[in-house]
Amino acid sequence: KKPVGAPPKELARPVTKVGVVGAGLMASQFALLFVRRLQVPVVITDLDQARVDKGLAFIRDELDGLREKGRISQDEANRLRALVSGTTDLADFADCDWVIEAVFEELGVKQQVFAEVERHVGPETVLATNTSSLSVDRIAERLEHPERVVGFHFFNPVAVMPLLEVVNATRTDETTLATAMATAAKLKKNAVITADAPGFVVNRILAKLLGEAMHAVDTGTPFETVDRAIRPLGLPMTAFELLELVGLKVGAHVLDTHHAAFPDRFFESANLHRLADHGRIFERDAKGKVKGVDKRAAGIV
Ligand code: 3HC
Repeated sequence: KKPVGAPPKELARPVTKVGVVGAGLMASQFALLFVRRLQVPVVITDLDQARVDKGLAFIRDELDGLREKGRISQDEANRLRALVSGTTDLADFADCDWVIEAVFEELGVKQQVFAEVERHVGPETVLATNTSSLSVDRIAERLEHPERVVGFHFFNPVAVMPLLEVVNATRTDETTLATAMATAAKLKKNAVITADAPGFVVNRILAKLLGEAMHAVDTGTPFETVDRAIRPLGLPMTAFELLELVGLKVGAHVLDTHHAAFPDRFFESANLHRLADHGRIFERDAKGKVKGVDKRAAGIV
C-alpha cells in the first residue's frame, strides 16, 4: 500500500490556466469555482457546441446570481465571465497546466478522454479526474505520464459542500499531489488525501447507505417510509432526495462499481437503473420542492 501523507507544499506547481472536460452539471459547477477562486482562464469542452453552450450559460447565470446577491461586484462578474470560454477543440487546452474531467462515469470513456488530452498538453500538466468511484490507477494506466494523474473528487452541490477527496493513485507523484493540495486550498475546500480504493472514503459509505435504502424499496417498503424511517439519522436531506441530487444514473453506476468490487457487501439494483432511465423519483413544484413520489417511479419498483 502507498503511504497517504501530505507532500511538501513547496513541490506544488502554479496553475495558470484550467481545462475542464465535460460541461454537465458537476463540471459546470466546479468550472465556476475554479474561475472564482483561482482567477485564471478556464476553458470548458464537451462532445458538441450545444453542450458547451449549456455549461457556459450555467456559469453566466450563476455569476449573475452571485452579483444579484451582492457577493461579487458587476466588475468582478464581467471579469470572471471574460475568463471563461468554451471550445470543442482540445488544441485549445495546449497551454493548460491543470485539466480536470467529469465525463460519463465509464472507465473506457475516461481513459480515452485523458489519452486525447495527453496528446495536446505538456508532460507536466496535471490530469485530475472527478470520478465518483472508478479506479484512478485504471483511468491512468494507458497514459504516457500516469504520474500526473490524480483524483479530485467534489461533492454536490460543489459551491456548498466543503469536502474534497484528493485520490493518491499508485503512480501519482509528489509534485502532482502537492499541486492538487495547493489547488484545493485555493478553492477553499477541506481536502483529504485518500487511497485509490473503490469509492474512496465518502462514496463507499454513501453507497452503503443509499444502496441499503434502495434495497429496502426493492424488497417492498415504499420510498416515503424508508425516507421517514432514516430521518432520525440527521441527514440534511432524505436518502432518495440525495440520490436525485447526485443523479440517479451516477448513483446507479456508483452502486454497480461497489457491487463489482465487493459483491458480498453491496447490492446492485435493477430498479435503480429503471428509475434512472425514467429520470426521477419525486414530483416537484416549480421551485424544486418535493410534492410526493412520482407515480411512474412508484410503479417501477
Ligand atoms: N448550488 C449552489 N448553492 C446551493 C445549492 C446549489 N445547488 N443548494 C443550496 N445552495 C446554497 C444556498 O444558496 C444556501 O446558501 P446561503 O446560505 O449562502 O444563501 C445554502 O446552500 C443552504 O441552502 P438552503 O438553505 O436552500 O438549503 P439547506 O440548508 O437544506 O441545504 C444542502 C441544502 C446544502 C444541499 C443540504 O441539503 C445538504 O447538505 N445536502 C446533502 C448534500 C450531500 O450530501 N452531498 C454529497 C452528495 S455525494 C456526491 O456528490 C459525490 C458523488 O460522487 C456521488
